[in-house]
Amino acid sequence: MSLFPCVPLGTLHIRASLDQSTQTNLLNDAFKVSEEAPFSHARTKSGGVYSAKMTNCGDVGWWSDARGYRYTAVDPRSGIPWPRIPKSFNEALKAVLSETDEAGFKPDACLINHYTANAKMGLHQDKDEANFSQPIITISLGAAADFLIGGFARSDKPIAALVESGDVLIMGGESRMRFHGIRKIYPGTSPLPDLEGRLSLTFRKAT
Ligand code: FE2
Repeated sequence: MSLFPCVPLGTLHIRASLDQSTQTNLLNDAFKVSEEAPFSHARTKSGGVYSAKMTNCGDVGWWSDARGYRYTAVDPRSGIPWPRIPKSFNEALKAVLSETDEAGFKPDACLINHYTANAKMGLHQDKDEANFSQPIITISLGAAADFLIGGFARSDKPIAALVESGDVLIMGGESRMRFHGIRKIYPGTSPLPDLEGRLSLTFRKAT
């Protein structure tokens, strides 16, 4: 495993952290989550549609619809609780974080985004969580993508970090509230035969 503190300071990009069999286990468990809580396109309050499809697992899940952004204990689409975070997710996270300052991190939410060829995510801050001293940690699976990391204002020019399958990105400490997004997916680059496009598993402590 190699650690690359990338610009800007405070964001940690851990490359090639997860081996292929771990990635496959995570993907299979993400598919199991989606059997209970299917991927779908969330909507913004103003009626826009996210180009990535989303689902969640955990005590709470992040969702957006006509009522706005929020964490909910039940899936607003079905009214049933979100699936639990799979054991494989927690084990992979624990193994990765053991060598970092975030070793004690215990997420209660995992948002899973599925990006197909033309999907992207505009620059935004994650600010629906109760405590911003807790990091947001992203595991990437499947196709490579340009992950944008900006400043603390939307207008600050972001840098792009290429994230590939098995990479982990930690936004914590002084980088926790940086604007970030996904500029582009590189179709055809997934090393996982069962996944076209990219899945991101984003772990949060929301409550
Ligand atoms: Fe985010």
